Amino acid sequence: MSMTVRGLTRAATAGLVAAAALTAAAHSAEAADTLGSAAAGQGRYFGTAVAANHLGEADYTATLDREFSSVTPENEMKWDATEPSRGTFTFGSADRIVDHAQSQGMDVRGHTLVWHSQLPSWVGSLGASDLRIAMNAHINGLMGHYKGEIHSWDVVNEAFQDGGSGARRSSPFQDKLGNGFIEEAFRTARAADPAAKLCYNDYNTDGVNAKSNAVYDMVEDFKSRGVPIDCVGFQSHFNSNSPVPSDYRQNLQRFADLGVDVQITELDIEGSGSAQAADYTKVVEACLAVSRCTGMTVWGVTDKYSWRSGGTPLLFDGNYQEKPAHDAVLSALGGSGDPGDPGDPGDPGDGTLSCTATYTRTADWSSGYNGQVTITAGDEPISSWTTTVTLPAQQSVSSLWNGTPTRSGNVMTVRPSWNGTLAAGASTSFGFTVAKNGSDAAPAVGTCTAS
Ligand code: XIL
Repeated sequence: MSMTVRGLTRAATAGLVAAAALTAAAHSAEAADTLGSAAAGQGRYFGTAVAANHLGEADYTATLDREFSSVTPENEMKWDATEPSRGTFTFGSADRIVDHAQSQGMDVRGHTLVWHSQLPSWVGSLGASDLRIAMNAHINGLMGHYKGEIHSWDVVNEAFQDGGSGARRSSPFQDKLGNGFIEEAFRTARAADPAAKLCYNDYNTDGVNAKSNAVYDMVEDFKSRGVPIDCVGFQSHFNSNSPVPSDYRQNLQRFADLGVDVQITELDIEGSGSAQAADYTKVVEACLAVSRCTGMTVWGVTDKYSWRSGGTPLLFDGNYQEKPAHDAVLSALGGSGDPGDPGDPGDPGDGTLSCTATYTRTADWSSGYNGQVTITAGDEPISSWTTTVTLPAQQSVSSLWNGTPTRSGNVMTVRPSWNGTLAAGASTSFGFTVAKNGSDAAPAVGTCTAS
Protein backbone atom coordinates (compact mmCIF):
# COMPACT_ATOMS: atom_id res chain seq x y z
CA MET A 1 0.00 0.00 0.00
CA SER A 2 1.28 3.43 -0.76
CA MET A 3 0.49 6.29 1.53
CA THR A 4 1.53 9.85 1.83
CA VAL A 5 0.42 11.58 4.97
CA ARG A 6 0.42 15.29 5.61
CA GLY A 7 1.98 16.62 8.71
CA LEU A 8 4.93 14.33 9.26
CA THR A 9 7.60 16.71 8.11
CA ARG A 10 10.05 16.27 10.95
CA ALA A 11 12.17 13.15 11.21
CA ALA A 12 11.48 12.71 14.91
CA THR A 13 7.97 11.35 14.42
CA ALA A 14 8.71 7.68 14.96
CA GLY A 15 10.43 8.32 18.26
CA LEU A 16 7.78 10.59 19.63
CA VAL A 17 5.00 8.09 19.13
CA ALA A 18 6.81 5.54 21.28
CA ALA A 19 7.50 8.14 23.92
CA ALA A 20 3.89 9.31 24.00
CA ALA A 21 2.78 5.78 24.79
CA LEU A 22 5.17 5.66 27.74
CA THR A 23 3.67 8.70 29.38
CA ALA A 24 0.07 7.72 28.91
CA ALA A 25 0.03 5.94 32.24
CA ALA A 26 1.42 8.96 34.09
CA HIS A 27 -1.32 11.20 32.77
CA SER A 28 -4.08 8.76 33.53
CA ALA A 29 -3.27 8.87 37.25
CA GLU A 30 -3.78 12.60 37.49
CA ALA A 31 -7.58 12.94 37.25
CA ALA A 32 -8.51 16.57 37.97
CA ASP A 33 -5.69 17.19 40.42
CA THR A 34 -3.47 19.21 38.12
CA LEU A 35 -3.95 22.37 36.09
CA GLY A 36 -3.89 20.50 32.79
CA SER A 37 -6.32 17.79 33.80
CA ALA A 38 -8.70 20.21 35.51
CA ALA A 39 -8.70 22.43 32.41
CA ALA A 40 -9.33 19.33 30.28
CA GLY A 41 -12.42 18.75 32.40
CA GLN A 42 -13.59 22.14 31.12
CA GLY A 43 -12.65 21.29 27.53
CA ARG A 44 -9.65 23.64 27.60
CA TYR A 45 -5.90 23.37 27.56
CA PHE A 46 -3.71 24.84 30.29
CA GLY A 47 -0.27 25.69 29.03
CA THR A 48 2.97 27.37 29.96
CA ALA A 49 5.86 29.05 28.22
CA VAL A 50 8.93 26.83 28.26
CA ALA A 51 12.62 27.63 27.80
CA ALA A 52 14.71 24.84 26.27
CA ASN A 53 17.69 25.56 28.47
CA HIS A 54 15.74 24.64 31.63
CA LEU A 55 14.54 21.25 30.43
CA GLY A 56 17.58 19.60 32.03
CA GLU A 57 16.50 20.78 35.49
CA ALA A 58 14.65 17.92 37.15
CA ASP A 59 12.21 20.00 39.23
CA TYR A 60 11.41 22.25 36.29
CA THR A 61 10.62 19.34 34.02
CA ALA A 62 8.72 17.42 36.69
CA THR A 63 6.47 20.42 37.36
CA LEU A 64 6.00 21.07 33.66
CA ASP A 65 5.14 17.46 32.87
CA ARG A 66 2.78 17.05 35.80
CA GLU A 67 0.78 20.26 35.55
CA PHE A 68 0.53 21.45 31.96
CA SER A 69 -1.16 20.20 28.78
CA SER A 70 0.27 22.70 26.28
CA VAL A 71 3.60 24.47 25.86
CA THR A 72 4.70 27.64 24.07
CA PRO A 73 8.42 28.02 23.35
CA GLU A 74 9.27 31.29 25.16
CA ASN A 75 11.91 32.44 22.66
CA GLU A 76 12.99 29.46 20.59
CA MET A 77 10.59 29.89 17.63
CA LYS A 78 11.18 33.62 17.24
CA TRP A 79 12.79 34.92 14.06
CA ASP A 80 16.20 35.63 15.62
CA ALA A 81 16.35 32.06 16.94
CA THR A 82 15.09 30.28 13.82
CA GLU A 83 16.43 32.26 10.85
CA PRO A 84 19.39 34.26 12.13
CA SER A 85 20.69 34.73 8.61
CA ARG A 86 18.59 34.70 5.50
CA GLY A 87 17.57 31.23 4.35
CA THR A 88 19.46 29.43 7.15
CA PHE A 89 16.94 27.87 9.52
CA THR A 90 18.01 26.68 12.97
CA PHE A 91 15.48 24.57 14.82
CA GLY A 92 17.59 22.85 17.49
CA SER A 93 16.20 24.53 20.61
CA ALA A 94 12.63 24.66 19.34
CA ASP A 95 12.80 21.00 18.34
CA ARG A 96 13.91 20.08 21.86
CA ILE A 97 10.80 21.72 23.28
CA VAL A 98 8.45 20.21 20.69
CA ASP A 99 9.97 16.75 21.16
CA HIS A 100 9.65 17.02 24.92
CA ALA A 101 6.05 18.22 24.71
CA GLN A 102 5.09 15.41 22.36
CA SER A 103 6.80 12.81 24.54
CA GLN A 104 4.43 13.94 27.32
CA GLY A 105 1.32 14.15 25.17
CA MET A 106 1.26 17.96 25.45
CA ASP A 107 0.12 20.25 22.63
CA VAL A 108 2.35 23.01 21.26
CA ARG A 109 1.51 26.67 20.51
CA GLY A 110 3.73 28.28 17.87
CA HIS A 111 5.10 31.70 18.86
CA THR A 112 5.66 33.74 16.70
CA LEU A 113 6.09 34.21 12.94
CA VAL A 114 5.98 37.95 12.18
CA TRP A 115 6.95 40.39 14.95
CA HIS A 116 8.95 43.60 15.13
CA SER A 117 10.98 42.37 18.11
CA GLN A 118 13.66 39.68 18.36
CA LEU A 119 14.02 40.23 14.63
CA PRO A 120 17.50 39.85 13.11
CA SER A 121 18.91 43.03 11.60
CA TRP A 122 19.12 41.55 8.10
CA VAL A 123 15.33 41.61 7.87
CA GLY A 124 15.18 45.34 8.53
CA SER A 125 17.69 46.11 5.84
CA LEU A 126 15.69 44.54 2.98
CA GLY A 127 13.79 46.59 0.43
CA ALA A 128 10.01 46.15 0.19
CA SER A 129 9.79 43.44 -2.45
CA ASP A 130 12.58 41.42 -0.91
CA LEU A 131 11.11 41.83 2.57
CA ARG A 132 7.82 40.47 1.36
CA ILE A 133 9.55 37.42 -0.12
CA ALA A 134 11.55 36.94 3.08
CA MET A 135 8.45 37.21 5.30
CA ASN A 136 6.63 34.55 3.31
CA ALA A 137 9.72 32.33 3.20
CA HIS A 138 10.06 32.61 6.98
CA ILE A 139 6.43 31.63 7.53
CA ASN A 140 6.78 28.71 5.11
CA GLY A 141 10.07 27.64 6.68
CA LEU A 142 8.71 27.42 10.21
CA MET A 143 5.23 26.17 9.47
CA GLY A 144 6.59 23.63 7.01
CA HIS A 145 9.06 22.27 9.54
CA TYR A 146 6.37 21.85 12.19
CA LYS A 147 3.49 21.04 9.88
CA GLY A 148 0.75 19.16 11.71
CA GLU A 149 2.49 19.54 15.07
CA ILE A 150 1.29 22.98 16.23
CA HIS A 151 -2.27 23.48 17.48
CA SER A 152 -2.18 27.29 17.12
CA TRP A 153 0.32 29.73 15.62
CA ASP A 154 0.75 33.36 16.57
CA VAL A 155 1.07 34.44 12.95
CA VAL A 156 1.46 38.15 13.68
CA ASN A 157 2.38 39.54 17.10
CA GLU A 158 1.97 43.08 18.44
CA ALA A 159 1.26 44.95 15.20
CA PHE A 160 -0.73 47.73 16.89
CA GLN A 161 0.55 50.72 18.85
CA ASP A 162 -0.19 51.36 22.47
CA GLY A 163 -2.10 54.46 23.43
CA GLY A 164 -5.26 55.98 22.15
CA SER A 165 -4.77 56.07 18.41
CA GLY A 166 -5.47 52.50 17.37
CA ALA A 167 -2.72 52.95 14.76
CA ARG A 168 -0.35 50.30 13.50
CA ARG A 169 3.03 50.05 15.16
CA SER A 170 6.06 51.04 13.14
CA SER A 171 8.09 47.97 12.06
CA PRO A 172 9.96 46.94 8.91
CA PHE A 173 6.81 45.09 7.82
CA GLN A 174 4.42 47.96 8.49
CA ASP A 175 6.74 50.67 7.20
CA LYS A 176 7.68 48.95 3.96
CA LEU A 177 4.68 46.75 3.15
CA GLY A 178 1.84 48.76 4.71
CA ASN A 179 -1.29 47.45 6.44
CA GLY A 180 -1.58 44.55 3.99
CA PHE A 181 1.35 42.66 5.50
CA ILE A 182 -0.89 41.13 8.18
CA GLU A 183 -3.37 39.77 5.66
CA GLU A 184 -0.57 38.44 3.50
CA ALA A 185 1.04 36.69 6.48
CA PHE A 186 -2.25 34.98 7.36
CA ARG A 187 -2.88 33.85 3.80
CA THR A 188 0.63 32.42 3.53
CA ALA A 189 0.22 30.72 6.89
CA ARG A 190 -3.07 29.05 5.93
CA ALA A 191 -1.50 27.50 2.88
CA ALA A 192 1.60 26.41 4.81
CA ASP A 193 -0.28 24.34 7.43
CA PRO A 194 -4.05 24.17 6.91
CA ALA A 195 -4.51 22.23 10.18
CA ALA A 196 -3.06 24.94 12.45
CA LYS A 197 -5.28 27.58 14.04
CA LEU A 198 -4.01 30.99 12.97
CA CYS A 199 -3.96 33.66 15.69
CA TYR A 200 -3.32 37.37 15.94
CA ASN A 201 -1.66 38.04 19.33
CA ASP A 202 -1.18 41.30 21.26
CA TYR A 203 -0.97 42.94 24.71
CA ASN A 204 -2.96 45.76 26.32
CA THR A 205 -5.87 44.46 24.28
CA ASP A 206 -7.33 42.55 27.24
CA GLY A 207 -10.08 45.07 27.97
CA VAL A 208 -12.19 47.21 25.69
CA ASN A 209 -9.96 50.12 24.66
CA ALA A 210 -8.70 51.92 21.55
CA LYS A 211 -6.07 49.28 20.84
CA SER A 212 -8.41 46.32 21.22
CA ASN A 213 -11.00 48.21 19.15
CA ALA A 214 -8.45 48.49 16.34
CA VAL A 215 -7.69 44.76 16.52
CA TYR A 216 -11.41 44.06 16.64
CA ASP A 217 -11.97 46.10 13.47
CA MET A 218 -9.19 44.21 11.72
CA VAL A 219 -10.63 40.81 12.69
CA GLU A 220 -14.11 41.89 11.63
CA ASP A 221 -12.72 43.01 8.28
CA PHE A 222 -10.78 39.75 7.84
CA LYS A 223 -13.87 37.67 8.60
CA SER A 224 -16.00 39.71 6.20
CA ARG A 225 -13.49 39.31 3.37
CA GLY A 226 -12.56 35.68 4.02
CA VAL A 227 -9.00 36.38 5.13
CA PRO A 228 -8.06 33.26 7.10
CA ILE A 229 -7.96 33.95 10.85
CA ASP A 230 -9.07 31.50 13.54
CA CYS A 231 -8.14 33.02 16.85
CA VAL A 232 -7.05 36.06 18.77
CA GLY A 233 -4.49 35.77 21.55
CA PHE A 234 -4.64 38.04 24.58
CA GLN A 235 -1.21 38.13 26.20
CA SER A 236 -2.54 39.20 29.61
CA HIS A 237 0.61 40.48 31.32
CA PHE A 238 -0.84 42.15 34.40
CA ASN A 239 0.56 44.24 37.25
CA SER A 240 -0.53 47.20 39.35
CA ASN A 241 -0.14 49.59 36.40
CA SER A 242 -2.00 47.24 34.12
CA PRO A 243 -4.51 45.32 36.25
CA VAL A 244 -6.96 42.65 35.09
CA PRO A 245 -9.60 44.79 33.34
CA SER A 246 -13.12 44.67 34.72
CA ASP A 247 -14.44 44.11 31.19
CA TYR A 248 -12.05 41.26 30.40
CA ARG A 249 -14.78 38.67 29.86
CA GLN A 250 -16.88 41.08 27.85
CA ASN A 251 -13.90 41.84 25.63
CA LEU A 252 -13.12 38.14 25.06
CA GLN A 253 -16.79 37.57 24.27
CA ARG A 254 -17.05 40.33 21.67
CA PHE A 255 -14.11 38.83 19.78
CA ALA A 256 -15.61 35.34 20.06
CA ASP A 257 -18.83 36.76 18.64
CA LEU A 258 -16.90 37.69 15.48
CA GLY A 259 -16.45 33.96 14.87
CA VAL A 260 -12.91 33.41 16.14
CA ASP A 261 -11.59 31.45 19.10
CA VAL A 262 -9.90 33.41 21.85
CA GLN A 263 -6.93 32.24 23.87
CA ILE A 264 -5.11 33.68 26.87
CA THR A 265 -1.57 33.36 25.63
CA GLU A 266 1.03 34.81 28.03
CA LEU A 267 -0.71 35.17 31.37
CA ASP A 268 1.24 36.46 34.34
CA ILE A 269 0.06 38.67 37.21
CA GLU A 270 2.59 40.38 39.45
CA GLY A 271 1.93 40.14 43.18
CA SER A 272 1.59 37.48 45.84
CA GLY A 273 -0.76 35.79 48.27
CA SER A 274 -4.51 36.06 48.21
CA ALA A 275 -4.62 39.25 46.10
CA GLN A 276 -2.67 37.59 43.30
CA ALA A 277 -4.82 34.47 43.70
CA ALA A 278 -8.01 36.52 43.36
CA ASP A 279 -6.75 38.12 40.15
CA TYR A 280 -5.88 34.74 38.66
CA THR A 281 -9.37 33.54 39.57
CA LYS A 282 -10.89 36.44 37.62
CA VAL A 283 -8.92 35.52 34.52
CA VAL A 284 -9.79 31.82 34.65
CA GLU A 285 -13.45 32.56 35.31
CA ALA A 286 -13.52 34.96 32.35
CA CYS A 287 -12.13 32.30 30.02
CA LEU A 288 -14.51 29.63 31.31
CA ALA A 289 -17.46 32.00 30.79
CA VAL A 290 -16.65 32.34 27.08
CA SER A 291 -17.27 29.10 25.23
CA ARG A 292 -14.82 30.03 22.46
CA CYS A 293 -12.01 30.65 24.97
CA THR A 294 -10.20 27.41 24.17
CA GLY A 295 -7.27 27.61 26.56
CA MET A 296 -4.91 29.53 28.77
CA THR A 297 -1.12 29.73 28.85
CA VAL A 298 0.90 31.18 31.72
CA TRP A 299 4.18 32.81 30.75
CA GLY A 300 6.51 30.43 32.58
CA VAL A 301 6.63 27.57 35.07
CA THR A 302 8.38 29.20 38.03
CA ASP A 303 8.79 32.74 39.34
CA LYS A 304 12.56 32.39 39.30
CA TYR A 305 12.72 32.16 35.49
CA SER A 306 9.93 34.65 34.71
CA TRP A 307 10.81 37.52 32.38
CA ARG A 308 9.36 39.61 35.22
CA SER A 309 10.85 37.56 38.03
CA GLY A 310 10.94 40.59 40.36
CA GLY A 311 7.15 40.62 40.28
CA THR A 312 6.76 36.91 41.18
CA PRO A 313 3.91 36.69 38.65
CA LEU A 314 3.52 32.92 38.20
CA LEU A 315 1.86 29.94 39.87
CA PHE A 316 4.93 28.17 41.31
CA ASP A 317 7.55 29.88 43.44
CA GLY A 318 11.30 29.60 42.91
CA ASN A 319 11.32 26.23 44.70
CA TYR A 320 8.45 24.89 42.59
CA GLN A 321 6.04 25.10 45.50
CA GLU A 322 2.42 25.78 44.60
CA LYS A 323 1.44 29.36 45.43
CA PRO A 324 -2.05 30.45 46.56
CA ALA A 325 -2.52 31.55 42.92
CA HIS A 326 -2.00 27.94 41.82
CA ASP A 327 -4.64 26.63 44.19
CA ALA A 328 -7.03 29.38 43.12
CA VAL A 329 -6.58 28.50 39.44
CA LEU A 330 -7.01 24.78 40.13
CA SER A 331 -10.16 25.40 42.07
CA ALA A 332 -11.57 27.84 39.47
CA LEU A 333 -10.99 25.09 36.90
CA GLY A 334 -13.05 22.72 39.03
CA GLY A 335 -10.05 20.65 40.12
CA SER A 336 -9.10 19.62 43.60
CA GLY A 337 -6.70 17.69 45.75
CA ASP A 338 -3.17 16.51 45.36
CA PRO A 339 -1.46 15.21 42.23
CA GLY A 340 -1.64 11.48 41.87
CA ASP A 341 -4.79 11.05 43.93
CA PRO A 342 -7.65 10.47 41.51
CA GLY A 343 -10.09 9.66 44.31
CA ASP A 344 -10.30 13.23 45.59
CA PRO A 345 -13.75 14.64 46.21
CA GLY A 346 -14.85 16.70 43.27
CA ASP A 347 -13.36 14.41 40.65
CA PRO A 348 -15.99 13.16 38.23
CA GLY A 349 -16.36 9.41 37.98
CA ASP A 350 -13.86 6.93 39.36
CA GLY A 351 -10.71 7.88 37.46
CA THR A 352 -11.02 5.24 34.73
CA LEU A 353 -10.22 6.89 31.42
CA SER A 354 -12.00 5.65 28.33
CA CYS A 355 -13.07 6.59 24.81
CA THR A 356 -14.95 5.22 21.83
CA ALA A 357 -14.20 5.49 18.09
CA THR A 358 -16.93 5.41 15.43
CA TYR A 359 -16.50 5.49 11.65
CA THR A 360 -18.57 7.16 8.94
CA ARG A 361 -18.01 7.69 5.22
CA THR A 362 -18.52 11.42 4.62
CA ALA A 363 -17.92 11.62 0.85
CA ASP A 364 -17.81 9.10 -1.97
CA TRP A 365 -16.77 9.20 -5.63
CA SER A 366 -15.85 6.57 -8.17
CA SER A 367 -12.16 6.36 -7.38
CA GLY A 368 -12.15 7.31 -3.71
CA TYR A 369 -13.91 8.34 -0.54
CA ASN A 370 -13.49 10.40 2.61
CA GLY A 371 -13.73 8.63 5.96
CA GLN A 372 -14.22 10.20 9.37
CA VAL A 373 -13.60 8.71 12.79
CA THR A 374 -15.28 10.38 15.77
CA ILE A 375 -13.55 9.95 19.13
CA THR A 376 -15.74 10.43 22.22
CA ALA A 377 -14.38 10.55 25.76
CA GLY A 378 -16.05 8.42 28.44
CA ASP A 379 -17.13 9.80 31.81
CA GLU A 380 -13.70 11.26 32.60
CA PRO A 381 -11.82 14.04 30.81
CA ILE A 382 -8.91 12.71 28.78
CA SER A 383 -5.71 14.29 27.48
CA SER A 384 -4.97 11.88 24.64
CA TRP A 385 -6.43 8.99 22.61
CA THR A 386 -5.28 6.31 20.19
CA THR A 387 -7.15 4.17 17.74
CA THR A 388 -6.44 2.16 14.59
CA VAL A 389 -7.90 2.19 11.10
CA THR A 390 -7.34 -0.98 9.06
CA LEU A 391 -7.82 -0.54 5.32
CA PRO A 392 -8.79 -3.17 2.75
CA ALA A 393 -5.59 -4.33 1.02
CA GLN A 394 -5.99 -2.45 -2.27
CA GLN A 395 -6.89 0.91 -0.72
CA SER A 396 -4.43 3.66 0.15
CA VAL A 397 -4.72 6.85 2.19
CA SER A 398 -3.63 10.01 0.41
CA SER A 399 -4.12 12.49 3.25
CA LEU A 400 -5.28 12.64 6.85
CA TRP A 401 -6.32 15.67 8.93
CA ASN A 402 -6.88 16.44 12.61
CA GLY A 403 -4.87 13.36 13.62
CA THR A 404 -1.30 12.08 13.67
CA PRO A 405 -0.97 8.76 11.83
CA THR A 406 1.73 6.12 11.86
CA ARG A 407 1.48 3.22 9.45
CA SER A 408 2.32 -0.44 9.63
CA GLY A 409 1.26 -2.32 6.49
CA ASN A 410 -2.41 -1.53 5.97
CA VAL A 411 -2.96 -0.53 9.62
CA MET A 412 -2.81 3.15 10.53
CA THR A 413 -2.48 4.01 14.20
CA VAL A 414 -3.89 7.48 14.74
CA ARG A 415 -3.17 9.78 17.65
CA PRO A 416 -4.23 13.40 18.19
CA SER A 417 -2.66 16.35 16.45
CA TRP A 418 -4.03 19.37 18.35
CA ASN A 419 -7.13 17.60 19.61
CA GLY A 420 -6.05 15.20 22.37
CA THR A 421 -7.80 17.02 25.18
CA LEU A 422 -11.48 16.14 25.58
CA ALA A 423 -13.92 16.91 28.37
CA ALA A 424 -15.95 14.02 29.76
CA GLY A 425 -18.37 12.94 27.04
CA ALA A 426 -16.91 15.37 24.48
CA SER A 427 -15.99 14.42 20.91
CA THR A 428 -13.47 15.24 18.24
CA SER A 429 -12.87 13.64 14.86
CA PHE A 430 -10.16 13.03 12.31
CA GLY A 431 -10.69 12.54 8.62
CA PHE A 432 -8.87 10.95 5.71
CA THR A 433 -9.06 10.54 1.96
CA VAL A 434 -8.77 7.06 0.50
CA ALA A 435 -8.00 5.89 -3.05
CA LYS A 436 -10.20 2.82 -3.68
CA ASN A 437 -7.94 1.15 -6.24
CA GLY A 438 -10.87 -1.11 -7.13
CA SER A 439 -12.11 -1.91 -3.61
CA ASP A 440 -15.15 -0.14 -2.19
CA ALA A 441 -15.06 -1.93 1.18
CA ALA A 442 -15.13 0.02 4.44
CA PRO A 443 -12.11 0.24 6.72
CA ALA A 444 -12.25 -1.36 10.19
CA VAL A 445 -11.80 0.93 13.20
CA GLY A 446 -10.14 -0.58 16.27
CA THR A 447 -10.62 0.00 19.98
CA CYS A 448 -10.06 3.50 21.32
CA THR A 449 -7.57 3.87 24.16
CA ALA A 450 -7.57 7.00 26.35
CA SER A 451 -4.92 8.50 28.58
C1 XIL B 1 9.67 37.66 26.23
C2 XIL B 1 10.43 36.51 26.87
O1 XIL B 1 9.71 36.05 27.98
C3 XIL B 1 11.81 36.97 27.28
O2 XIL B 1 12.60 35.85 27.70
C4 XIL B 1 12.51 37.67 26.12
O3 XIL B 1 13.74 38.20 26.57
C5 XIL B 1 11.65 38.76 25.54
O4 XIL B 1 10.40 38.24 25.16
N1 XIL B 1 5.26 39.52 24.45
C6 XIL B 1 5.56 38.39 23.74
C7 XIL B 1 6.60 37.47 24.23
O5 XIL B 1 4.89 38.11 22.74
O6 XIL B 1 7.29 36.84 23.18
C8 XIL B 1 7.57 38.14 25.15
O7 XIL B 1 8.46 37.17 25.69
C9 XIL B 1 6.84 38.90 26.22
C10 XIL B 1 5.95 39.94 25.64
